[in-house]
Amino acid sequence: MDVYQLMQEEKDDEAGYETAMLLYSAALKKIVTKVEILNDEFQHVHNYNPIEYVKHRIKKRSSIEEKLRRKGYEPNFENMISQIDDIAGVRIVCSFIPDIYQLVDMIGRQSDLTVVSIRDYIKKPKESGYKSFHMNVRVPVYLSDKEVTVQVEIQIRTIAMDFWASLEHKIYYKFEGNAPEYISRELRECAGIVSMMDDKMFSLNEAIVKEKEKAAGE
Ligand code: GTP
Ligand code: MG
Repeated sequence: MDVYQLMQEEKDDEAGYETAMLLYSAALKKIVTKVEILNDEFQHVHNYNPIEYVKHRIKKRSSIEEKLRRKGYEPNFENMISQIDDIAGVRIVCSFIPDIYQLVDMIGRQSDLTVVSIRDYIKKPKESGYKSFHMNVRVPVYLSDKEVTVQVEIQIRTIAMDFWASLEHKIYYKFEGNAPEYISRELRECAGIVSMMDDKMFSLNEAIVKEKEKAAGE
């Protein structure tokens, strides 16, 4: 069953909301644990840590309602579940771009997860300059007497992309989406600089790995 069906079994809307949040929080825990296991395995097998850090959050009720209104929907529980696909969100911050695609493959192969959608804003950045890899997945949560499918949004990006996105969000937020053109332009310029750093850091890392291999072979 899905979250909305389960909510309807509750005595009223408020109890339904509490149950829904419990499920989203359980789904977040499952995804975070999966990511930690992948990172531990990577560390164990390759002696390398592709993940810098993982953050997660449940969207606040006020933000859910605000987003529904912005999208032109009545802020009710049915719309909340069917229209808001990022109530539960996990953000994985990696060291380098190839780490992101490796993680995407590894997550996609897990048989209890269903990938619902993928948006690659690294290959095709947003107009704002935003880069990140987004995947929406469905994960089963087992309660005492039923199984519920819950959707989670996973955002995967490098530290450089995360640095830009966090600051851009802070700056842009102050303008409520109507920043003057020169600010948007300069933010896009910053996105370009940040991408250059990503590329440069990656090639430096490659060079260092090669140097080390050379030294080991001598
Ligand atoms: P939403 O209605 O916001 O969910 O958009 P969407 O369903 O088209 O999804 P999209 O993949 O475009 O973006 C979802 C999330 O990505 C947002 O909630 C932000 O966390 C992040 N995001 C997208 N665009 C930007 C951007 O220009 N700047 C920043 N800082 N974050 C962004
Ligand atoms: Mg979305």
